[in-house]
Amino acid sequence: MTEHSVMPVMPPASGWEGEGLGRPLQPGVDTRNGQILYLDDITVSFDGFRALNRLTLTIGVGELRCVIGPNGAGKTTMMDVITGKTRPDSGAAFFGQTLDLTRYREAEIAQLGIGRKFQKPTVFEAMTVAGNLELALAGDKSVWGSLRARLNGAQRDRIDELLTLIGLGGERRRLAGLLSHGQKQWLEIGMLLAQEPKLLLLDEPVAGMTDAETDKTAELLLGLRGRHSLMVVEHDMAFIASIAGKVTVLAEGAVLAEGSLAQVQADERVVEVYLGR
Ligand SMILES: Nc1ncnc2c1ncn2[C@@H]1O[C@H](COP(=O)(O)OP(=O)(O)OP(=O)(O)O)[C@@H](O)[C@H]1O
Ligand SMILES: [Mg+2]
Repeated sequence: MTEHSVMPVMPPASGWEGEGLGRPLQPGVDTRNGQILYLDDITVSFDGFRALNRLTLTIGVGELRCVIGPNGAGKTTMMDVITGKTRPDSGAAFFGQTLDLTRYREAEIAQLGIGRKFQKPTVFEAMTVAGNLELALAGDKSVWGSLRARLNGAQRDRIDELLTLIGLGGERRRLAGLLSHGQKQWLEIGMLLAQEPKLLLLDEPVAGMTDAETDKTAELLLGLRGRHSLMVVEHDMAFIASIAGKVTVLAEGAVLAEGSLAQVQADERVVEVYLGR
């Protein structure tokens, strides 16, 4: 199937509970054709300026896609469209083959399985590292106080697993506010992972990190590949080189080039607008 043959969600005859927006509330993500995300011909204008200009991009299931490009290219705006923060003026945005993202609210899109890491870490500083993960595991469905007493064995195991994955096993009882910048970033990634996102969007995850923290982040993200699909936006080219499979170069709101890092680095247009700066 190509990205031009995605089918819109059609309302079924019954069992439709979409609060008037006409979409299923508990749908599964259909990735039978191997794709997790389709953006097709997306345009977003701010006062006539096209932040995204006919952007078309597809991400495969389990892929770790790197997105690079100059300031103002539209990288963050693209994530805003995927997560429902910004509605496109035109074009299609699908999660799997059938879920039309433009028909869901921001919180619903998170529940469908799209997690987003903003640049600034937003952990609960007055809670412990493990407490932050427990809260994330509960989602917004349970009350924190009652959850704590009821944490079952599987949930405890999951928290241990997450702590190991994000390299904070030794910090579980520390207040999150006392962590280094890099450790806070990993904790936030752990909190996103607690919600088992199918697609994880990371906007400049290593900004402000030390070299050692950046290396550990690369290792962490490489370990998530396959189990999750990832889209990583970064300006740090050494970091990109350490994780890159396929790279998409965005410029002026559209895809300028796509391929292996070596391929896009050899593209004269990419050198001109970005890498040659
Ligand atoms: N809410 C908004 N209102 C007006 N203009 C906006 C808005 N959001 C983004 N823009 C503009 O859209 C363009 C794309 O911005 P965006 O933040 O997506 O770029 P970016 O590729 O993420 O850049 P950077 O690498 O600096 O983070 C910029 O010119 C920006 O000023
Ligand atoms: Mg940005």
